[in-house]
Amino acid sequence: MACIDFVFKVSGLTMLFIVGTTSLPTTVPKVFDVQRYGAKGDGKTDNTNAFTNTWEDACTWNGPSKMYIPNGRFYLGAVSFAGPCTAGSISFVIDGTLLAPPNNNDIKKETWINFRYIEYLTVSGSGTLDGQGQMSWSLNDCRKNEFCPKLAINMGFDFVKKSRLEGITSLNSKAGHFNFFSVDHFNITGVNIKAPGDSPNTDGIKIALSSNIRISNTNISTGDDCIAMLSGNNNFDIYNVTCGPGHGISIGSLGKNKDEKNVNGLTVRDTVFIGTTDGIRIKTWESSVSTILVLSYSHLVSNFVYENLQMIDVGTPINIDQKYCPYPPCKNMGDSHIQIQNVTLKNIWGTSKNKVAVKFQCSKSFPCKDVKLIDINLKHNGVDGPAITLCENIKGSATGKMVPSHCMN
Ligand SMILES: *[C@@H]1O[C@H](CO)[C@@H](O)[C@H](O)[C@H]1NC(C)=O
Ligand SMILES: *[C@@H]1O[C@H](CO)[C@@H](O)[C@H](O)[C@H]1NC(C)=O
Ligand SMILES: *[C@@H]1O[C@H](CO)[C@@H](O)[C@H](O)[C@H]1NC(C)=O
Ligand SMILES: *[C@@H]1O[C@H](CO)[C@@H](O)[C@H](O)[C@H]1NC(C)=O
Repeated sequence: MACIDFVFKVSGLTMLFIVGTTSLPTTVPKVFDVQRYGAKGDGKTDNTNAFTNTWEDACTWNGPSKMYIPNGRFYLGAVSFAGPCTAGSISFVIDGTLLAPPNNNDIKKETWINFRYIEYLTVSGSGTLDGQGQMSWSLNDCRKNEFCPKLAINMGFDFVKKSRLEGITSLNSKAGHFNFFSVDHFNITGVNIKAPGDSPNTDGIKIALSSNIRISNTNISTGDDCIAMLSGNNNFDIYNVTCGPGHGISIGSLGKNKDEKNVNGLTVRDTVFIGTTDGIRIKTWESSVSTILVLSYSHLVSNFVYENLQMIDVGTPINIDQKYCPYPPCKNMGDSHIQIQNVTLKNIWGTSKNKVAVKFQCSKSFPCKDVKLIDINLKHNGVDGPAITLCENIKGSATGKMVPSHCMN
C-alpha cells in the first residue's frame, strides 16, 4: 500500500508525518462514551436507551466518530444501530462486557445487537458479548417442535459494507453468535467465539447473500456450525481458524426453496478442526418439490478450494451430503437440484472418529463434477478397521497421497 510522506518546514524545524494505509490524513475520531449518556457498567442498570442515544449522536456526527464502551458490565436489551451515518466512518469499540437479558422474552427481536445500512463500520475491542444463553438452551426443541421459540442471535450485520469486525469475544449466545445478511467487503479477524459443544443452534458465524468476505485468525468453539454459509454467497476467504467443538465449516443447508442463489468462490485454508462432528461439509436437502416440476432448475455450488486443513479426532472430516436430513422423517422426494462442481481438496490430514472419513454422497440427477483430491491423509483408529471413502455420483480426479483410497470415477 502506498505511503505518502508529508514534509513540513516550520520555523527551521523539520516535521515528518507518515500517513499509512489510507491515502488521506486521518483525523482523530470524536469519541462518544456511553457513560456520558448515563450508561452504567454495574451489571444491573438497563442501558438500552443510553446506548441508543449514544449511537444517534455518533452516527450523525459530522466527521469520523467512535462509540466507546469502557470496562464494566453493561446490561443491555435489544438494540438496533442503523445508518447511514453522516460521516465517512464510524467505529464501535467494546472494551467492557455487554450482558444480554437472560430471559429470551425480554429481547423480542431476532437479534440482540444489530447493525444495519452502514458503510465503513469497525466493531472492535477487547470486550465480550455475553448472550447469557444458558437459561434459553433448554427451550430449543426445534427438532421436535416446529413452533419452537425463536431465540436471539448475539450480533447481526444487515446491509453493511466495507466494514470490519475485530478482536471481540462472543460468549454463550442464545441462538447463533454472529449473523451476516447482504454484507459486502467485510473482514472478520481475531474474534473469539465460545459456547458449550452441546448448546443447540449456536452457529458461530452465519452468512447469506454476501460477497467478498474474509474470516481469519479466529477461534470458534460452539454447539453448531463454526461457520455456516448459506445461499447467495460469493468470494469468501477463510484462513487460520480453529474450529471445535462444533459442526465444522459448512455450506448450506441448501435446496429447501427455489429462490436460493448460487454459492461461488470459496477458499478455506490453514485451518484446524478439533473434535468437531464434521470438518468441511456441503449439505443440500433432497428436492422438496416433485421432480417433474423441478427438472428445469438447478443451482450451482462451485469453485471451492479447501487447502491445508488439519483434522483432530473429527467425526467425518470431509462430508458432501446431498441427502441432508438432520431429523427424520425424511421425505425422500427426489434428488437434490444443487450442482456441485470444481471443488479442490488439497493437503487434508489427521484423524477421523468415524470409519467413513470421506463422504461424497452426491445427487443422482446432478452428479458432483470436477472434484480434485490432492494429498489426503486421514486415519481412523477403531475396532471397525481403517478409514474408508464413500462415493455416490461423483466425477473427478485424485493425485498424491490418498489415505483412505479414493473411489472416484
Ligand atoms: C480486508 O482485508 C484485506 C487484506 O488485508 C484488505 O485488503 C481489505 O481492504 C480489507 N477490507 C476491509 C473492508 O477492511
Ligand atoms: C485462539 O486460541 C489460541 C490458542 O489457545 C490463542 O493463542 C489465540 O490467541 C486465540 N485467538 C484469539 C483470536 O483469541
Ligand atoms: C493465527 O491466528 C492467531 C489468533 O487466533 C494469531 O495469534 C496468529 O498469529 C495467526 N497466525 C498467522 C500465521 O497469521
Ligand atoms: C475452479 O475454481 C478455482 C478456484 O475458485 C478457479 O480459480 C478456477 O478458475 C475454476 N475453474 C473453472 C474451470 O471454473
